[in-house]
Amino acid sequence: MLKGLKKRHVYVRTFGCQMNVHDSEQMIALLGENGYAQTEDPRRADVILLNTCSIREKADQKAFSQLGRYASFKRGKPGLILGVTGCVSQQMGPRIFDRIPEVDLVVGTHNIDQLPVLIGRLEEKKGRIAETAFRDCVASIGVRARPKKGSVGAFVTIMQGCDNYCAYCVVPYVRGRERSRGLDDIVGEIRFLAESGVKEVTLLGQNVNSYGRTIGNGASFPALIRAVAAVDGIKRIRFTTSHPKDLSDGLIGCFGTVEKLCAHIHLPVQAGSDPVLERMNRGYTATDYREKVRRLRETRPDIAVTSDMIVGFPGETEEDFRKTLELMEAVKFDGLFSFRYSEREETAAVSLPGKVEEGVKRERLHRLQKLQDAHTAERNRRLRGKRVEVLVEGLSRNSRQDMTGRTSCNRIVNFPGGNSLVGRTVTVGIRETYLHSLRGELEGEG
Ligand code: SAH
Ligand code: SF4
Ligand code: F3S
Repeated sequence: MLKGLKKRHVYVRTFGCQMNVHDSEQMIALLGENGYAQTEDPRRADVILLNTCSIREKADQKAFSQLGRYASFKRGKPGLILGVTGCVSQQMGPRIFDRIPEVDLVVGTHNIDQLPVLIGRLEEKKGRIAETAFRDCVASIGVRARPKKGSVGAFVTIMQGCDNYCAYCVVPYVRGRERSRGLDDIVGEIRFLAESGVKEVTLLGQNVNSYGRTIGNGASFPALIRAVAAVDGIKRIRFTTSHPKDLSDGLIGCFGTVEKLCAHIHLPVQAGSDPVLERMNRGYTATDYREKVRRLRETRPDIAVTSDMIVGFPGETEEDFRKTLELMEAVKFDGLFSFRYSEREETAAVSLPGKVEEGVKRERLHRLQKLQDAHTAERNRRLRGKRVEVLVEGLSRNSRQDMTGRTSCNRIVNFPGGNSLVGRTVTVGIRETYLHSLRGELEGEG
């Protein structure tokens, strides 16, 4: 092969939330348009990008230990471009060069669309570039990523940033101010996805129910959901994440009126004690939260409610923690992500008194997770013997004879079936339920 015409490869490693996963898809798509093929093998790559998360200290450390590994590849391959993107980049900027000198490129969360130009510059002339300026526009989230062939689901970013400033959270500092993307732009992207065969879209934002606030003109999240539901070819709509304080009657109403809207809401509560919720700056009480869940279930009885919980926030007493368990007993979440509080630079909670010992946090987390496992199993068991609609996503990871897909309420279902079912909605009779998946038999196609 002629030198110079050789295909170049990019390897992207992603940490963090779905938003970061989608940012990585956008980076791969952008670089694809600029002559880079994606590789799953970092040793084959001409460009390695590490898309980082800084939500908790552990995530941050993981990114740096990986970076150290990739930095060692440069010794045998001096032309390799090593880049860091995402939330750690945004927070640290060029300080990353001091910590890992082999890094060539640092790109912030608002600069993804500039990636091909920045890499082009580094290919022409060795050096270091850090581009982390916040921009007062949504260019970096409006990049259209062509879905991978055969993709059934796709993410669509509808807004960036967050203005909520929860006391523990780094997101407003690393993703900037809240900005909504225009409705026509979003619907245009979803039409394009539907034409490419996508059946399910997940609308992404840190706080999707405040969608439209920065646009005005009556733009709102319920209006966006209805516009997306009108797109031919899209069968299912999901969204994440919504903040309990902004969960409007209009959005609750959508669960009763928009058939394509899936029966699942991820509604992070964070704690069950009111004084803790207040110190966290969450803007609701445990009673407010329970009332919203009650209304959601009244509107859509089969809705699955999942949540996030933090244990050991500064000042959390055993009594506060008991309130968290009490809330869990009252709500019975279908699933829960739970974390030990991790102190983050710049956030308001840094200066709060009453730091909780790691050992205590660990012990509380253990108790909480045990209780949640029992609730998850119980909620899953209710589906045993039921017939559910499953959108088939592909072959099951565990068995070549099984297909896998999800229910509207976001449970993974495995069942014997063939590849021709991918992208179709089928009826499955549930026979067995486990903690993380269900198993059943195909009972109807179409
Ligand atoms: N925008 C989403 C959450 C994004 S972060 C929302 O508002 O719900 C995802 C989850 O990480 C949070 O819901 C919270 O439970 C957890 N988290 C955030 N900061 C944390 C910290 N400093 N320590 C531990 N967990 C944290
Ligand atoms: Fe963080 Fe709170 Fe914003 Fe969620 S709403 S991203 S937890 S500041
Ligand atoms: Fe992490 Fe950034 Fe998402 S900090 S959770 S990757 S917004």
